[in-house]
Amino acid sequence: MHFLILNGPNLNLLGTREPEVYGDTTLEELMQLCAEWAGVLGHTTTALQSNHEGELIDQLHAARGVVDAIVFNPGALTHTSYALHDAIASIDIPTVEVHISNVKEREEWRAESRIAPVCVHTIYGRGTEGYRDAIAHLHYRAVSPPVSISYGPEPHQVGDLRIPNGEGPHPLAVVVHGGFWRHQWTRDTIEALAVDLTNRGFASWNLEYSRSGLSRCDASDDISLAVATRTLLAHDYPIDIGRTVLIGHSAGAHLALEAAAATPVAKVVSLAGVTNLVRADSEGLGRGATTSFLDGAEPGPHCPTELLPIGVPVLLVHGTDDESVPVSYSDEFERDALARGDSVQYLRLDGVNHSQIIDPNHSSWVKVATLLEESLLSE
Ligand code: DQA
Repeated sequence: MHFLILNGPNLNLLGTREPEVYGDTTLEELMQLCAEWAGVLGHTTTALQSNHEGELIDQLHAARGVVDAIVFNPGALTHTSYALHDAIASIDIPTVEVHISNVKEREEWRAESRIAPVCVHTIYGRGTEGYRDAIAHLHYRAVSPPVSISYGPEPHQVGDLRIPNGEGPHPLAVVVHGGFWRHQWTRDTIEALAVDLTNRGFASWNLEYSRSGLSRCDASDDISLAVATRTLLAHDYPIDIGRTVLIGHSAGAHLALEAAAATPVAKVVSLAGVTNLVRADSEGLGRGATTSFLDGAEPGPHCPTELLPIGVPVLLVHGTDDESVPVSYSDEFERDALARGDSVQYLRLDGVNHSQIIDPNHSSWVKVATLLEESLLSE
């Protein structure tokens, strides 16, 4: 694939422009990184920047027939330009909107995007690494196109379903991303793993859910609803829901464990999981993320440790070098779950950090995937 990385007004000043908001990476350095990120996935890039709306429109038009996917940061034109909206709508090239800063938590006018409705995804508030995530998302949706399946009426009550080759019925992996329940972290962050599961023979359903920071967060209800309604998938797709594994990363592991305690599944996997909400709340894990997520509610009723026994075989996976969720969360959960009679398997991985655990190319994931294949792939 050939990517266009397009940047709008004032982004030529990256590195010196409000570094407390946009960081100190220059545009040139960032475009070099984009070439490297795309290169790792086997793709090439062209980087362009303009301070002029008309020129950006011309560049979008010129991309037709030349470019397979676009990563676009239109700067402040995001918030005003219907002309850019129409240009993207006209060219039929999948485009991801990217912002370095958290546009939903700055001035009110920045929360509005004119181009979002015609983009395949919007990424913001992840610093310059948002460009890396945009490239990865465009890659994965091209190599393994998902079908979006809603599990409720809200726009975020949706999951990307991928069905493996072969006749089936296939076991189902329900995947729940992490990000401390905060709205800037979405399911693209765990898409590589969902695609890998599908390549291994699992139907994967990568869920979105309500997140905190914008409005009330009902993530627990969302994941429980999705898990309960997964039976509907089996009407239309060759899926054996009797072989459902729920896989959550970080805060998504909390949600997976909570949902598994309510709706039995074949297995639940906690990857670097926030397994104890009472502890996370009291020690301000993730810079107060648990407290924001709870929004005044008591942690106990949502806390996997308090919900023990889960009643479903649990696979705990945690790296000793986890910088976001200390490995002691899984150490303690293993001890408590065994004491309450749950069946627990624990992969405690030396030297592995929080994000390596969801990198399908990392040795830790290969170990997890092999265990899942052994227990769920053969009937
Ligand atoms: C920006 C956010 C816009 O609101 C702002 O006008 C920019 C940069 C970002 O990358 O965070 O120029 O798109």
